Amino acid sequence: MQTRIIFVCLGNICRSPAAEGVMQYKVDAAGLQDRIKLDSAGTIAYHAGDRADSRMRSTAKRRGYNLTSISRCLTQKDLGTFDYIVTMDDSNYDDTASLIERHGQTGELVKFTDFCRHHDVSEVPDPYYGGDDGFERVLDILEDGCDGLLDRVRGQG
Ligand code: 4NP
Repeated sequence: MQTRIIFVCLGNICRSPAAEGVMQYKVDAAGLQDRIKLDSAGTIAYHAGDRADSRMRSTAKRRGYNLTSISRCLTQKDLGTFDYIVTMDDSNYDDTASLIERHGQTGELVKFTDFCRHHDVSEVPDPYYGGDDGFERVLDILEDGCDGLLDRVRGQG
């Protein structure tokens, strides 16, 4: 059985493309690329068609993650396509929950930080208007949560 996961943030140029890239790296390392399919999207379409933010890409690249996704907005169809809809912060969660309320879903809406085991945080902070350390911090949290999420999907978490 295949598990489909979509990561959701605001613009789909910083946090969710990075989550997708980190998770893809871990899925590939575990040899599970046929079993786990990943995507990402934003709750707004403002950056649709754009590559991930260059600061996010370069910070990720230094850790070995290649961010290739192109920004797109979360759609009604996504709600029924993915088994896990994983949001980065409370605002993304609330916006996605509203979309689900209007359109229904089949997937499970979850907060990314619920999968963290080493970071006691309730949100992945938006790095867009901050400095370089914000992008490093995002990756620290994402690496932690992706390990937890992978364990959950494998049935161990
Ligand atoms: P993301 O970051 O939600 O992690 O992709 C942001 C991207 C763009 C904006 C804000 C946050 N913006 O205001 O355009």
